[in-house]
Amino acid sequence: KLVVAVQGTRKQHVDTVGPKVDRQKKSPVCSYNEWDPLDEVIVGRPDNACVPSLTPEVKAISSPQQWEFFRKFGGQFFPQEHLKKAVSQIEEMCNVLRHEGVTVRRPDIVDWSKAYETPDFKSKGMYAAMPRDILIVIGEEIIEAPMAWRSRFFEYRAYRSLMKEYFQAGAKWTTAPKPLMSDELYDQNYPVESVEHRYKLSSEGRYVTTEFEPCFDAADFMRCGKDIFAQQSQVTNLFGIEWMARHLGPDYKIHLLQFKDPNAMHIDGTFNVVGPGLVIVNPARPCLQSEMFKKAGWKLVEAPKPMVPDDHPLWMTSKWLSMNVLMLDEQRVMVCKHETPTIKMFESLGIKAIPVDIRFANSIGGGFHCWTTDVRRRGVLESYF
Ligand code: NVA
Repeated sequence: KLVVAVQGTRKQHVDTVGPKVDRQKKSPVCSYNEWDPLDEVIVGRPDNACVPSLTPEVKAISSPQQWEFFRKFGGQFFPQEHLKKAVSQIEEMCNVLRHEGVTVRRPDIVDWSKAYETPDFKSKGMYAAMPRDILIVIGEEIIEAPMAWRSRFFEYRAYRSLMKEYFQAGAKWTTAPKPLMSDELYDQNYPVESVEHRYKLSSEGRYVTTEFEPCFDAADFMRCGKDIFAQQSQVTNLFGIEWMARHLGPDYKIHLLQFKDPNAMHIDGTFNVVGPGLVIVNPARPCLQSEMFKKAGWKLVEAPKPMVPDDHPLWMTSKWLSMNVLMLDEQRVMVCKHETPTIKMFESLGIKAIPVDIRFANSIGGGFHCWTTDVRRRGVLESYF
């Protein structure tokens, strides 16, 4: 027998064959913001990562100079020597996290080169490298995002062992409505040739994803207690943000933020909240609502210019991964070892930098924040805004 809470009572007994859960026990999943002391984290895996094909949604976030790479390697593994280095850098990152007292969990190893077909499209997979893109923890609930790229349709499969375990130990587990990802979800004629034109389109709220059905990547949401900041982007539509707002209900307020960004995809390289009222902002992507934060007494600190050399491959992102840091608590930040100006900036804010090198891992699409999903932080739901 399970004990279920119905309309506020905790004592209705029903016959069930489901797993037995001690509801008095604390959920293994619990996090309300990006900076409370980190207890447990999922770190992604570079293993078997595949390059996505050059579809309209991939074109929309990459520059024409990068297209040759996608044309040549789409559907194949990322260059193997590079992946090997990424694997060892991420292992080292996990060791540092453990050394800092954090429990590290990993997704399953999956063969992402397997072709798949749904009634609407054919694709191959991409990877389970960036848990931040697919999983978001809000309170005791872990939500699997629907995603928006066809190459990421089945990404959730790598995390199902972990999801089942967390659920059986008492977490609330939700998957957002799975999109069809049929042709109607993408503006097939989305103009991608000129960056200027894309600035204009994004200022009008026009992205490659249409409003055909809800879609979002979890990394377009930034948690800050009762306030959650979201951006519409090439992978997150208004339908998806509305789903999230209604799903979370009145305990949370989702603020839609806009940035001057021609390739918007994932808010954590643009606006990274690292403490109560403390945000690292991207000087190349001004926030149109920055006054709202200043009025609330928040401190907006501009990220220093990234130090990544031009010849280091970043196949899926800009260099602004330099500001894509992971807070271990309010006083400790995991930051790239080579980003001296960023390290100095954190030190000037009284935050101790824990330098780690994941440059080869950066190449396949993310920094420390992208490579992780914080499963449990010690803290409670508060309002900071
Ligand atoms: N897509 C953004 C954010 C990555 C974390 C970028 O390339 O800067």
